[in-house]
Amino acid sequence: MKTLLSEEELEAGVARMASEIAASYRERPLTIVGVLTGSIVLLADLIRQLDMSLRVGVLQASSYRSGTTRGELTINSEMMLDVAGRDILVVDDIFDTGHTLVEVVAKLNELAPTSVKTAVLLRKHGRQEVDFRPDFVAFDIPDEFVVGYGLDYADQYRHLRDLVVLEPDDLASDK
Ligand code: IMP
Ligand code: MG
Repeated sequence: MKTLLSEEELEAGVARMASEIAASYRERPLTIVGVLTGSIVLLADLIRQLDMSLRVGVLQASSYRSGTTRGELTINSEMMLDVAGRDILVVDDIFDTGHTLVEVVAKLNELAPTSVKTAVLLRKHGRQEVDFRPDFVAFDIPDEFVVGYGLDYADQYRHLRDLVVLEPDDLASDK
């Protein structure tokens, strides 16, 4: 495994994104909605960089898939806060094809929020299939499969402190 972003680089990138978010909302209270499960580490770090009034909720977006291929997306919002009349910031790990974030934003928009913006740790180069841009992006990365800092392969590796590239050999050994 090769390190793409070290723990220190991740910390600096998240701090930079937090400043942009704080500047964008100024004094307006914010409702952050983390997309489970990939956003958990980013969520924990990002909210502690935000010195402002905020609430934190989560929803789960999962696709029936194993490994690196995507399947149909289901969204479970049972654990989420009320969002009507609120400024919402959706936080996710990675903007890849973009389908997940587009569907999550569409679902939230049905609930009559005041605004919905999106923040992602990573945007993968050349992969997007949707006409949508996240409002805040901490890092643009090349088209490689990465794990760590919340991101998984087959539910493994989320706890790694660095963001690392999974090599084809690692992908093949599906433990
Ligand atoms: P989407 O293709 O933008 O809908 O991304 C869907 C989800 O795929 C993301 O939230 C991640 O959970 C997962 N994903 C996409 N690329 C990677 C990657 O390189 N490593 C780990 N998970 C990924
Ligand atoms: Mg995932």
